[in-house]
Amino acid sequence: MPNTRTRLIAGNWKMNNDLDQAYELATELVKAIPEVPAGVEVCVCPPTVDLRVVSCRGGIKESPIKLGAQNVYWEESGAYTGETSVAMLKSVPVEYCIIGHSERRDYFKETDEDENKKAKALIAGGIVPIFCCGESLETREAGEHVSFVTSQIKAGLAGIELSSADQLVIAYEPIWAIGTGKTATADDAQEVCGAIRATLVELFGEEIASGIRVLYGGSAKPENIAGFLEKEDVDGALVGGASLKADSFAAMVEKAGE
Ligand code: 13P
Repeated sequence: MPNTRTRLIAGNWKMNNDLDQAYELATELVKAIPEVPAGVEVCVCPPTVDLRVVSCRGGIKESPIKLGAQNVYWEESGAYTGETSVAMLKSVPVEYCIIGHSERRDYFKETDEDENKKAKALIAGGIVPIFCCGESLETREAGEHVSFVTSQIKAGLAGIELSSADQLVIAYEPIWAIGTGKTATADDAQEVCGAIRATLVELFGEEIASGIRVLYGGSAKPENIAGFLEKEDVDGALVGGASLKADSFAAMVEKAGE
């Protein structure tokens, strides 16, 4: 049964689009999504260097589409070459920030402790983390996907206190479904998203946990999004490849409003 939480459709551009391309895609998105359907929120997460052009010249700031980043560092300022602070993102301005993506965990060796520090810094600074979790194919085949994902949630969110459900979003992205064209079934997604919500109840209590959005990610596209959104604990999608074309991303937003 679908639920009453505001759905979130978030686009993760990953390491795609230079300034000109980012400007072009932003202007196309502003045209393709002039209004966001009732009960839906939309957000795009370009590379850090593109954030400002997407927000200003690209017109996202004046549109109903929100802006997110793909990474952040937890320290306030100083000698951390190459990093971006919460305050820097806030000044763009950015409302959301993806953390804990499997690509960061795998390629850049980020740990649960790193994600925990990022989550705490973002929440303290008023940016909503889109906290990613998800298992490898090996873990799924061993039947350990639920315990693996719930342990990522517990470790990554340890010691965090929330005053409202809007301060946090979770994205369940099974690694074997990312960029592979292989999607989890809607039932696979519900199984894990339901277990994530039960863990959120343990961490934050029923009232807050029942309002936290839990997204599905992994080869989500216009053709399959509706099936995921029918599920009780799936509140939207974190979209990679299909967010790089304005028409496919807009089609997903439209489906989320149906
Ligand atoms: P794809 O939609 O390209 O599979 O990517 C999913 C993802 O990793 C979004 O963060």
